[in-house]
Amino acid sequence: MSDIKRVGVLGSGLMGSGIAQVAATAGYDTLVRDVSQQIWDKARGGIEKSLAKFVEKGKLPAADRDAGLKRLRFTTTTADLKGCDIVLEAVTEDLELKNALWKELDGLCPPATIFASNTSSLTIAAMAAATRRADRFVGLHFFNPVPLMPLVEVVRTVTTSADTFQRAFAFAKSLGKEPVAAKDNSGFIVNLLLVPYLLDAIRAVERGVGSVPDIDKAMQLGCGYPMGPLTLLDFVGLDTTYKIAEIMFTEYREQRYAPPPLLKRMVLAGMNGRKTGKGFYDYAVDPPRVVDLGL
Ligand code: 3HC
Repeated sequence: MSDIKRVGVLGSGLMGSGIAQVAATAGYDTLVRDVSQQIWDKARGGIEKSLAKFVEKGKLPAADRDAGLKRLRFTTTTADLKGCDIVLEAVTEDLELKNALWKELDGLCPPATIFASNTSSLTIAAMAAATRRADRFVGLHFFNPVPLMPLVEVVRTVTTSADTFQRAFAFAKSLGKEPVAAKDNSGFIVNLLLVPYLLDAIRAVERGVGSVPDIDKAMQLGCGYPMGPLTLLDFVGLDTTYKIAEIMFTEYREQRYAPPPLLKRMVLAGMNGRKTGKGFYDYAVDPPRVVDLGL
């Protein structure tokens, strides 16, 4: 275990709840902050389900699950995170929102506390600069589903100290993850390569190159990917992908990051994928059925 003992997590959506789950089961006292008890109840339900799967498969002793759940607490008050040794932020990809939280905590946390953002595409430097601890600010980018995906990108921006980077790297390892070092470039390593691929899959649908299930099947069986790109989009969330694409397009001004019109329309219609029950597939039925997009 690293020198970190108490972990704070901002946000309990897909990513935040996954991060909280792995931190608590790795032995850290973990305090999650979100805006309502109702959101947390849903997140905690998801964590319990995930842990139950690990126990069922013999991958986690039931006693470790129980101990992990005991280490997991919740608050709606951001200031309660003031005693944490590291704060991981996983709220919506909105710089203003993130920086408001960072500014509040910057005045409350001790100097040694590390601030780490799970942003997928925003610049770490833009958050670090909003605090008086730009040297203790780092990116820790996890992958969905967090309890299963081994990778964490540890992002060192221009102001991050070598000590902070090493502590964050060791912390990621202590969670049982495989960290890689990445530069503070929008999208880091994975999204720099993954996002154009996902957007191209939507462009392939727009052009009628193949049907939604055939595009998925082609990439699954032709390349050995665990999920086809449109299933993966539903899994990651179309709204999340749209936001990431907009941020990356603004950063690079390259066509390959431009969100395709179909993605925008689906997000406008609330078809955000699994989280809203419908995206390229309809999840109200089992197995999920392809949605008629009128193309
Ligand atoms: N917790 C615990 N166990 C889980 C779980 C969870 N949340 N979700 C699934 N599992 C278990 C299942 O029970 C199953 O166990 P078994 O093999 O022992 O029966 C196993 O994991 C596999 O699950 P499934 O059979 O349901 O489905 P798959 O074989 O397709 O595996 C997957 C699921 C691991 C999600 C796999 O499909 C996969 O790797 N997909 C790609 C995911 C990916 O690319 N993620 C990155 C997205 S990009 C991102 O996150 C970055 C962001 O910035 C956008």
